[in-house]
Parts: sequence; structure tokens; C-alpha cells
Amino acid sequence: LLRATLTLSMALGATSAFAACDEGETVIKFSHVTNTDKHPKGIAATLLAKRVNEEMNGKACMEIFPNSTLYDDNKVLEALLQGDVQLAAPSLSKFEKFTKQFRIFDLPFMFKDIVAVDAFQASDAGQTLLDSMQRRGIQGLAFWHNGMKQMSANVPLISPADANGLKFRVMSSDVLVAQMKAIGGAPQKMAFSEVYGALQQGVVDGQENVWSNIYGKKFFEVQDGITETNHGVLDYLVVTSVDWLDSLDADVRDPFLKILNEVTELRNAESFAVNQANRQAIIDAGGKVRTLTPEERQAWVDVMKPVWDQFSDDVGQDMIKAAQSFNS
Ligand code: LMR
Repeated sequence: LLRATLTLSMALGATSAFAACDEGETVIKFSHVTNTDKHPKGIAATLLAKRVNEEMNGKACMEIFPNSTLYDDNKVLEALLQGDVQLAAPSLSKFEKFTKQFRIFDLPFMFKDIVAVDAFQASDAGQTLLDSMQRRGIQGLAFWHNGMKQMSANVPLISPADANGLKFRVMSSDVLVAQMKAIGGAPQKMAFSEVYGALQQGVVDGQENVWSNIYGKKFFEVQDGITETNHGVLDYLVVTSVDWLDSLDADVRDPFLKILNEVTELRNAESFAVNQANRQAIIDAGGKVRTLTPEERQAWVDVMKPVWDQFSDDVGQDMIKAAQSFNS
């Protein structure tokens, strides 16, 4: 395994990332798309690797490939199934090829806040979702939080009518396509790594994302402003392949899963604060943040929420009910 990994790493010119791996250690490669130190996912991934490398030294070795340096999210799940990486944490919007059940998370205004998301994920209904792709060879290990999405464009967005005719980048999710069509926008699915350039060059006019991505990838610099809509959630599923997990000896698998669960709990509790820090960083850097009155926000609810009807068969009324029960 180590030799195969080294060959791949040399081909990618990433040999320095392997310095920490000793012969005989189980190599755990984790590819993701964000920064490493100011982002809920990046910080969690960095901490996970630190703890695995310290506490499982001699047994396992984790290497992180952040910032889409190894794979985009649309490629990483194939890479996982082929054994080229062992861990990934794409947003829940990016599993569409494998399951339609995660559409529950993309339905606009499904969750009041990240606390409701957390409670739903921890419930029996939420936990069944971890196993929903086993048939396809993918095992969910943990939900990692990011936070609530905001809207941005190259013009001020106050009323949904302001979005009429604008081109919006969306993640690879048909729900998000439908949501942008509902506000009269022209949605375009696009990899995260391409968004800044597309906004800068006017390939798209706007996008939706969490504060930590809007700051982390500097989208605010090429947008008129960010409107605080909190209209949807962007969270992650930490995934591995069923085959790889099955191949592990218990003395590697058990401590690894224990560390993962501890890191999940610790960092999920901080995701809101990390996003608020990114929101402030946008303002400090001269970015414009617009807040909505309750009436103004309600107009977005009225236009976006009917999208649920298109997807309720995919997710099931029971799931919707379960999700909604955590909003009170
Ligand atoms: C996006 O594509 O906008 C996000 O899923 C990126 C991320 O991983 O937060």
C-alpha cells in the first residue's frame, strides 16, 4: 500500500506530504476542497490528521490534501471507490449520483439553524442516512457541520425579484438548481475551485454559500455584497469506502473511529463561531453584508419553499416531518 501510494504521490509531485508515513503504517489519504485553518471542515481535518498521526503512530498515518489540490468533489467519490484516497468530506449536496435521500438537506428553509440540523442528524432518522450508500460502496462515518448559506451577486439582493435573470453557481444538486429557478435565476452546476474565476469573469453573476467559503475563497471581493438569508444548510458527510473500512484490523479501525468521533463532536460545536468569525472578516476586509428584515426574508421563503413539492417523493414525508420537528 505504501509503495503504491508513494508512486502516486510522486506522480502528483506531492512527496513532501508523505514524510510522516513510516513503512507498515496504514496510509489514510484525505482529500478536500477548502483551506486548512479558518474553515470548519479544514480545521476539523487538520485536527483529525494531527491526532491520528500522534496517537496512532506506527499503526496509521494520515495525509491531508486540501484546497482541491488532489480532487474536486465530483471526482473524489470515484477516487474513494478506487482506493486512491481513503477519506473525503464532500458537502451533502454532492452525493446526488449515489442517493437522493440527502436532498432533505438542500430543500430551502428546511432547518431553522445549525442546532436543528445537528439534532436531526443525531436522531434515528438522521443516523440511517449514514448507511444510505452502503450498496454503492460508500460508508458515511460522521456529519461535519459548516453552517447556513447566504446569497451573493454582482448586484444588491434584497428582494427575490432582484435575482431575476441572474446566473447563479450551484453545487451539483438538482434541488439547488430548482431553488435558483424558483427565484428566476439561471443556475449552473460548477466545482468549488472554479467559482472565484467564474464570478470574476462574469461567467456567473452570483452564488450561495456559507461565510467560511465566501471569505475563504474571497468570493466577496468579486461580488456586490452578501445578503444574510440563512436559507439553507451546507454540511458534510465524512465518507470512506466500505471495502477499505472492512479491510482494517480492529486495532486500527477502532482507535481511528474513536478519534474521528471525538474530533467531530469538538469541532461541530465550534462551526457556528468559525462562520461568524469569517462573516466579521469579510466586513473587516471591506466586504458588504446586507441583513434582511423579517418581512424581506419572508419573501425569499415564499418564493423558494414551494420547491419542496418537486422533491418530497425523493426524500419522503416522514423525513421532512422528522427534520421539521427540530425547528421549534
Ligand atoms: C461548495 O462547493 O461550495 C462547497 O461544497 C465547498 C465546501 O466543501 O465547503
